[in-house]
Amino acid sequence: MSRLIVVSNRVSLPDEHGSSPPGGLAVALNAALRRKGGLWMGWSGKVQAEEQPAALMEKEVGGITYALTDLSQKDLEDYYYGFTNQVLWPIFHNRADLAEYSEARESAYYRVNGLFADQLEHVLRTDDVIWVHDYHLIPLAEKLQQRGHKNRIGFFLHTPWPPADILFTLPNYNTLLRGLSCYDLVGFHTENDRNNFAECLRRQELGDLHGDDCRAYGKEFRCGVFPISIDTAAFASLAGRGDDLQESFCRLAGFDVAIGVDRLDYSKGIDQRIVAFNRFLRSNKHRMRKTVLLQITPKSRDKIPAYQAMQKDVAELVGRVDGELGSVGWVPVHYINQSLGQPELASLYRRARVGLVTPFRDGMNLVAKEYVAAQDPRDPGVLVLSRFAGAASELGEAILVNPYDGEDMARAIETALDMRRDERIRRWTPMMERLRAHDVYRWCDDFLSSLDPPRGSMPSLEPA
Ligand code: G6P
Repeated sequence: MSRLIVVSNRVSLPDEHGSSPPGGLAVALNAALRRKGGLWMGWSGKVQAEEQPAALMEKEVGGITYALTDLSQKDLEDYYYGFTNQVLWPIFHNRADLAEYSEARESAYYRVNGLFADQLEHVLRTDDVIWVHDYHLIPLAEKLQQRGHKNRIGFFLHTPWPPADILFTLPNYNTLLRGLSCYDLVGFHTENDRNNFAECLRRQELGDLHGDDCRAYGKEFRCGVFPISIDTAAFASLAGRGDDLQESFCRLAGFDVAIGVDRLDYSKGIDQRIVAFNRFLRSNKHRMRKTVLLQITPKSRDKIPAYQAMQKDVAELVGRVDGELGSVGWVPVHYINQSLGQPELASLYRRARVGLVTPFRDGMNLVAKEYVAAQDPRDPGVLVLSRFAGAASELGEAILVNPYDGEDMARAIETALDMRRDERIRRWTPMMERLRAHDVYRWCDDFLSSLDPPRGSMPSLEPA
């Protein structure tokens, strides 16, 4: 069997207790590799001291070999903070207004992808299967092929793919499209993302998609929909352990809890959620002093001005709501800028009557899936979910909301808290069945088995 090589910008080593750090991509890839074994290559998270990058640092943990590379200060600024997170991230999340393109940033992006290819060459064997992840590394297949490698190679995008008119705001967007055509398989979370991608190709007469088969730039490759998932059984059993340590820590006893868990990111709709919670309390006076919103929000990408501005805005908003509505013994919004471990999160999700997952735009959003998996089957809580999260296409029994409409969200919180137990069970059961059938291992198997047919075995797209 071929060895699996996973490549992503962020590589997260499990901590000394063996549990994965939070964050969708890290959790999913750790779970997938734990079963399959293999090598995971990416950025160490460190800045290199020397001008030249050091050799890959290899480390073996739990059957997975982690191969890590440092980045120079300049690449950190221009590639990571620059092109990937101030150009691609906003554009892929429909926020072209926030994109800060520059040629220097773009060339750092292609340079770092070349550097990843150079580093990968040190460990690559001819029969390895390579699986590349996320928007940071779209050009990697092309860079490897330019170096003469012919390995089977797949790409999975963890963010949404934007509509054509939004992608076309990016100078040289066609170089990205060409980069994707160098993979054997390109995977998206949803049909909508794949349709957007196909529309980009068609509008520029660059290529076309027929079912899963795609032709662009004179290449044939496959394009599939693979909704990412979680380790459902493990998460459910973690939540069922009844660990109530954090309950006393957070002093939540006696309150109805609504929970939000998001990186501090403008795509997540955190301010609007807090505004909606405030509105809900003001129009449901009987819920005052009985309900709290627990918003767990680790800081993210905090060198970027849009993220810094958001930190300030959310903190001020929380202060205002708590100051205006709170009383001695009741803080309506508990706002925590820390990331919690999975056992703690699982218990908190189970404790919460409502899970608020209301991003403006999100590739999948695994918090939605974790919230469902953590519930007590006899007395489940209610998921309030944005229509614009990829998860909405699989979790249609949640209360689906428009995150731009505060009134809609306030009403949804009220409906969720008022919902009778039989109705909650009726909604939760099919969602949980789906998550059990489509867990992260299934996601991984589906992707890798679609990547399986070697290049050239695809039916011809030429008309008969
Ligand atoms: C999103 C992206 C991931 C990224 C994660 C954390 O989920 O899709 O690729 O790793 O955010 O962001 P960071 O910039 O800290 O890696």
